[in-house]
Amino acid sequence: MVFRDPGIKKIIKILFLIVLLQVGLLVINVCAQQVLKGEKPELISSGKNVFEEGNCRMCHLVNGEGRKFEGTVDVTGIGSLYKEPKLREILIKHLFEKPDIHKYEDALTKEDIEALVQYLSTLKTPSPK
Ligand code: HEC
Repeated sequence: MVFRDPGIKKIIKILFLIVLLQVGLLVINVCAQQVLKGEKPELISSGKNVFEEGNCRMCHLVNGEGRKFEGTVDVTGIGSLYKEPKLREILIKHLFEKPDIHKYEDALTKEDIEALVQYLSTLKTPSPK
């Protein structure tokens, strides 16, 4: 397209800048919301991985999914039951200090625990019983 009128080019430039600005604002907005909510997306998804690969499902259900047997504990809703520090404390006790349940000392790092805390914190809605 050829614009003879230099004014149109200017308008198109300005429109382009406005669109660019909008996209920029949108990105900032989404990031800010995650920061405000205290969500750490990478940690949450790596926590989910740790949960799946750390055999937590052997004994735990999430949203009612998993192997059910006498003694399975559904951890759905755990995020609204405990705040982060308490959840961290429970996890460390549960996974490191009760060798009768499962040995995790060698399998899980501090980072894994942190990721698990973040992931479990997102499990807020208890599954319907
Ligand atoms: C061998 C079975 C077993 C495995 C494997 C296991 N857990 Fe547990 N978990 C339990 C039992 C039993 C309880 C409830 C009694 C207790 O707190 O000791 C529990 C309790 C919990 C609780 C507290 C639940 C509440 O409502 O208080 C959390 C959180 C938890 N487990 C997370 C995990 C995670 C994360 C993993 C994997 C890294 C894991 N568990 C692996 C058996 C297991």
